[in-house]
Amino acid sequence: MTTIQTVPVALGERSYDVRIGPGLIADAGAHLAPLLKRPRVAIVTDETVAALHLPALTAALAAAGIEAAALALPAGEATKSWAELGRTVEWLIAQKVERGDLIVALGGGVIGDLAGFAAAILRRGVRFAQLPTTLLAQVDSSVGGKTGINSPQGKNLIGAFHQPSVVLADIDVLASLPERDFRAGYGEVAKYGLLGDAAFFAWLEENGPRLRDDRAALQHAVAHSVAMKADIVARDETEQGDRALLNLGHTFGHALESATGYSARLLHGEGVAIGCTLAFDLSARMGLSPQEDPSRVAAHFAAMGLPSRLADIPGDLLGADALIALMGQDKKVVEGRLRMILARGIGQAFVTDRVDMVALRAVLGG
Ligand code: GLY
Repeated sequence: MTTIQTVPVALGERSYDVRIGPGLIADAGAHLAPLLKRPRVAIVTDETVAALHLPALTAALAAAGIEAAALALPAGEATKSWAELGRTVEWLIAQKVERGDLIVALGGGVIGDLAGFAAAILRRGVRFAQLPTTLLAQVDSSVGGKTGINSPQGKNLIGAFHQPSVVLADIDVLASLPERDFRAGYGEVAKYGLLGDAAFFAWLEENGPRLRDDRAALQHAVAHSVAMKADIVARDETEQGDRALLNLGHTFGHALESATGYSARLLHGEGVAIGCTLAFDLSARMGLSPQEDPSRVAAHFAAMGLPSRLADIPGDLLGADALIALMGQDKKVVEGRLRMILARGIGQAFVTDRVDMVALRAVLGG
C-alpha cells in the first residue's frame, strides 16, 4: 500500500514539508487548512492543468469549507513573462489577497515559478503552496524556493528566492502527463543519481523503465529525488556553493534549449539528459572520471527513450563555438569564467571553473 511520505526542507523559520503520494489533491483541504488564517485561497494555474485538475482541487477545498478563486494562464514557457506576471499580480490584488493569505500554484514549473514570484513581490511577500503537476516540477522546481520569469535576454534572469509554505506532490496526477513530458521530467530524476548517489542511479537503471506503470516505484523515485534536493537546499539555500550541483547538465542544456529556440524540438528535461551525458563526456576526456561512464549514462537515457547525444536533436544544430558562446551567457558564469558541474564518477559531481576548452570543443563536435 502506498502512503504519503513527508520530506522536510530544514530552513529555520522558512522550513516546510514536501508531501508526496497519491490523493493529495483530493485531500488538499485537510493539508492546506492549517496554513490558512481565513478559509480562502487564490489559485494560479494554466489552461491545460485547469481542465484536468482544477475541478478536483476546488471541490476538495470546498469540502473543507475553503473558498477558492482561480486564474488560468496560457500553458507554456512564454507565460513566464513580465506581461503575465503583471496580469497575475493585478488579479491577486483585485481578489483582495491579503498579506496573511495563501496563494496556491497548481501546475508545472512555469506556473510554480511565476506564481511563486508573484507571491514574493505582492505586498512584499505573501505565502504560497506548490501543487506541482509535472514530474519535473515535483522533483525539482517546486522545491527550494527559486521563483521567477524569463527575460527576452535569457531564461530565469528575473526572480527571487521565496520558499513555499508546503509542497503537495500528488503522484496520481502524473498519469495524465503526455509520455514525452513524463520522460523529459525523468531527465531531472536521473540527474540526482548522477550528481550524488550512484546506488540511486543503479536503482534507476533497473527500475526506470517501469516507473510509468508502477506507482510505488514512481513514488520512491520522486521522494528520493526530493530528499536529495531538500538536503542540498538546506545546506545552501541561495546557491553560494553546493546548490550549484543541481545544475549538472544544465549549462549544456540551456545552451541547447537556446540554440533550438526553446521550442518543441528540445524540452528542458531532454536538454538536461543530453547535458548530463556531455558533462560526463567532458569529465572523462579531462581524465577526471572513468572512461566507461559516458556510455553508461547515454545508454540509460536511451533506454528511457530520452535523447542523450547532440545527434539526437532533430534538424541542424549550431557548431561548437556558437554553443560555447551560448554557454557563456549562462547565469553560472562568474567573473567571466565558465563554471560547470563535472564529475569524478557517477554520483560524484563537483563544481569547477577549470574547464579544458579544447576538450569542451571536442565534446561539442568542434
Ligand atoms: N533547479 C535547480 C535549483 O533549484 O537549484
